[in-house]
Formats: sequence, C-alpha cells, structure tokens
Amino acid sequence: MAEFHIAVVAGDGIGPEVTEQAIAVLNKIGDLFHHTFHFNKVLAGGCAIDEVGKCLPAETLEQCKKADSVLLGAVGGPKWDTVVGVQRPEKALLGLREGLGLYANLRPAIIHKALSDACPLKPEITGDGIDILIVRELTGGIYFGEKGYREGKYGQEAFDIEAYSEMEIRRIAKNAFDVAMQRNKKVTSVDKANVLESSRFWRKIVTEVAQQYPEVELNHMYVDNAAMQLVRNPKQFDVIVTSNIFGDILSDEASMITGSIGLLPSASLGQTGAGMYEPIHGSAPDIAGKDIANPIAAILSTAMMLKYSFKLDKEADAIEKAVTSVLESGYRTTDIMSEGMNVVGTKQMGKLICDAIQ
Ligand code: IPM
Ligand code: MG
Repeated sequence: MAEFHIAVVAGDGIGPEVTEQAIAVLNKIGDLFHHTFHFNKVLAGGCAIDEVGKCLPAETLEQCKKADSVLLGAVGGPKWDTVVGVQRPEKALLGLREGLGLYANLRPAIIHKALSDACPLKPEITGDGIDILIVRELTGGIYFGEKGYREGKYGQEAFDIEAYSEMEIRRIAKNAFDVAMQRNKKVTSVDKANVLESSRFWRKIVTEVAQQYPEVELNHMYVDNAAMQLVRNPKQFDVIVTSNIFGDILSDEASMITGSIGLLPSASLGQTGAGMYEPIHGSAPDIAGKDIANPIAAILSTAMMLKYSFKLDKEADAIEKAVTSVLESGYRTTDIMSEGMNVVGTKQMGKLICDAIQ
C-alpha cells in the first residue's frame, strides 16, 4: 500500500479526454491493489497560453517538480500555430523535459496481436510481431544547442548546433544497455558517424559503455540506413539508442509500422525516479471533444508510470493485460476499427478497460 502524487498536464485537443480515462484506470488500480493516487491538474500548452499568456507557467513546473510523476495528454493545435518563438505550445514540452531533467525517452513500438492487420508492412516482414524500444536522448543535441542568426557566406543565415558531451552520451547509453538487459540484449546505436563529428564521439562513447555489458550485443548503424532497415527488416531491432533529433524521426517511423499510433505510450526519465508519461500521438484537434479519440496510449502510459517510476510491476501488467483482453474481445475505437469489430467511444473504451482489470 502506497501513496503517489501525480501532476496531470491534460493539455490541448484530445489531451483532456484521454487523460480522464487514464486517471480512471489508475483509480481502479488504486482500489484493487490498495494504493492511493492523488491527481493535481496543472496548465501547460495552448490552453495555458489562452489562460495565463504562457505555455509553461512557473507554477506548473514547480508542481511537476514536486510530484512523484507527471501524466501528460497532448499539447498544441492549429489555433496556436501562428504564435511565434518562445510561447509556442511545443515549448511547454521542451521546458518540462529540460526543467525536470528528463534526458531518457523510452518509446516502445509494439504490434498488438489483435491488431496485426493494421500494420502496413507485409506479414512476411513482420512475422510473429514487432517489439522495438527506441531510447531517445531528450535534453541535448540540436534541440537544446546554441541557435540564432548570423552573417554567413550568402548573407543572413539561421543556425542550430548539434553538440553532445561525454556525460550526456554515457548516461543515455547506460540507460539503453540497462533496458536491453531486461529484454533481448541487443542494442543498435544510430548515428551519422560518416559525416558528423558529434556522431563519431557518440559512437566512441557508446562503444566504451558497451564494455560494461558483455552480455549485450551492440551494433552501430547510420541513421539513413536505420530508416530503411525499419521497413525492410524491423525484426532485427531490439533496443535502438539515438540522439534527440534522430530519435524524434525514427520513433514516428517505428510507431507507424505498428499501424496503431493511438496505442503507443512513452516514458521520459531522469536521474530521480520521477518521470513524465505521455501518449506518442498528438493533440488531434480535428477529433477533440467528440468522444472518439483512442484512450489506450494514455492508459498504457500509466502502465509505464507504474513500472518505471513506482516499481509496481504487477499493477502495470494488470493494465496491459486488460487492454489486450478488451482488444481481443473485438472492441475498437474508430482509428483502429476494422470489419466485424465493435466500435466504441473514448469513455466506453476507458470503462471496458477498467472493468477488465483484475
Ligand atoms: C515528440 C514531438 C516533440 C519533439 C515536439 C512537439 C516538440 O515531435 O515528442 O516527438 O520534437 O520532441
Ligand atoms: Mg516527434
């Protein structure tokens, strides 16, 4: 029996609807396994710009720092696309990642058996399923490097610098090897070492870290080749570790090959046990407020929270099993609907999953 304080950044678009179902699932887990979850709703993203003129109010960051973990729905939408620079909703995400020191982003790409039809690749390529974990560096590289404008060879130019320190590479590599030890003990480090100095350094440090993990097989791959291999032969991958920008791109590709982006959760972790958990999908403003969004990615994000931040493996398993059983019973939200299945809305999907938890 334990007590946990969770800051909830519901955000924009479908964010509030899907986090509501995630909260319901956590409350059900609390009842069944005798834990108490306290939820503290805080503002960030476009809604925060509207209400207080800032995408990430200082109060929000403070509350998130105090919490045992953060549950995030989604931020952004076309309404704020014309807002320039520092107050864009996406900046709230970057500010939370940096402010909470969340340097390791775990993005699983898994094909659920019941949904193997949704995968756009041929069955002979996916075989009995795909289970890849992308470990993306999240607080360094070109996202956070020096940026600005300067006078260049052809007049004014804009620049963003990609830089990685040994410390940053070492800690994310350790993270990747640690999770690989819990999985199939294979790490693919993705870089562009044939061109970039920062990638050559990345490769050197990752290779050094690998020596502490003799059981784990390490291979290196250029990012262009990795993008190709993900569709050519995705089964060769177990854990992929890569930089912030390459991880951003490859994780979208990997999620698409599962055919079910509405189902994929993610975890952002730092030095402390606290983390931030969110669906991989965005705020989907076109379907917001219609009770048709898929809450499964948000719900599975809570399973990751229980596992990685609260060390409640049994409870996390219970959520994953409930999701699997509801899918196997033929219930689908519209995004994953196929012939002969029962279409349900956001709330009903949440309720079915709650009811299936044992
Ligand atoms: C992601 C998103 C963000 C990123 C954007 C919204 C800042 O694409 O989480 O992958 O680039 O990291
Ligand atoms: Mg992205």
